Amino acid sequence: MPVSRRAFLASLGAGGAGVIALPLVQGRGREALYAFQSSTGRRADRMAASAPGVIRIDSNENPNGPGARVFEAMRGAFAEANRYPFKGEEALREAIAKTHGIKSENVLLSCGSGELLRITVQALTSKDRALVVASPTFESSQNYAKFLGTPVRAVPVDAKLRLDLQPMADAAKGAGLVYFCNPNNPTATVHGKAAVAQFIEQVSRTSPETTVLVDEAYHEYVDDPTYATAIPLAMQNPHVIVTRTMSKVFGMAGMRCGYAVGRPEALAKLSPWILDSGVNQLVLAGATVAVADKAHIADEQKKNREAKAFTRKFFEGAGYAVGVSEANFLMIDIRKDVKAFKADALRKGVAVGRQFPPLNTQLRLSVGTMAEMQRAVEILKPILA
Ligand SMILES: Cc1ncc(COP(=O)(O)O)c(C=O)c1O
Repeated sequence: MPVSRRAFLASLGAGGAGVIALPLVQGRGREALYAFQSSTGRRADRMAASAPGVIRIDSNENPNGPGARVFEAMRGAFAEANRYPFKGEEALREAIAKTHGIKSENVLLSCGSGELLRITVQALTSKDRALVVASPTFESSQNYAKFLGTPVRAVPVDAKLRLDLQPMADAAKGAGLVYFCNPNNPTATVHGKAAVAQFIEQVSRTSPETTVLVDEAYHEYVDDPTYATAIPLAMQNPHVIVTRTMSKVFGMAGMRCGYAVGRPEALAKLSPWILDSGVNQLVLAGATVAVADKAHIADEQKKNREAKAFTRKFFEGAGYAVGVSEANFLMIDIRKDVKAFKADALRKGVAVGRQFPPLNTQLRLSVGTMAEMQRAVEILKPILA
């Protein structure tokens, strides 16, 4: 694995995380890294979903894409394709800062928010400082922690499939990092503003050196009025980081851009690990337009709400329990094994979410376009029976 000299030197002063990571990587070698990266069969799954004609409601992508204004900005950026993208980085950080009412020093750009999930584990955990996650949740952080040999404390979601906050706060004592996915993928549940603030207050009081990463990848899709972003908390508390992505409501999953929000001293712990200029010139130009385009975001929210309501109505009408959904995907208890169902659905041309143990009968369906959902439910109906 390429670990730069700069990142390695930084690790010597970063609580030891990199000190264990480098020998581990050397010991395990490239094959282990490759196995780690492809361990969930995700790549094969995605390739199957990408076959022509397949309805792709498996990966919580936005079916509509980013829209004409973003493409126009990207085309305009070709003139700077031969230059390193410093100006573009500044422009995007400023645009993001403006939308959140913060400063650009509070924004760290990344190659997809996935890069941030990886580097927070590298920078903030070690074999003595565990990672705390919910189970199930988005798996990137814990997969990387397991690869590095960092202990992972996984706390089951509660009976309503929500992150179980008190046991997570208990597990946070002495941990390096808590991964708090809000809304949570795959369960689509959310915690309100007061609950998140109280959780962070408790963790900061009982374990002052633990960082809480609040992953708000699905922020724009939340309708729950008690919810609010944790960005104001990250502005106050150097042990809170919020991550966002351009992959969901902005429809730019293929372009790979995300960002972290935090105090400069919080981001300074991460920046030695990040790939310098990991967001390319074209994507920077597109994302700068996208983050400020409130009308487009509102339109995407509306489309998602309508297609989601249609899908919910179909499944509830057919007698299946559909969970609360504060995102662009739904969890549906199909009362049969999701693994077999997924394979059957793919054979008929619909790619659905994979199984998320221990919720083995809960199907995660991403919300496609209305036309896609109308076709999908007709195809899935006989497989459900
Ligand atoms: C909760 C959550 N966080 C982060 C990501 C990674 O997104 P990206 O790397 O595309 O920004 C995903 C992707 O599905 C996700 O569901």
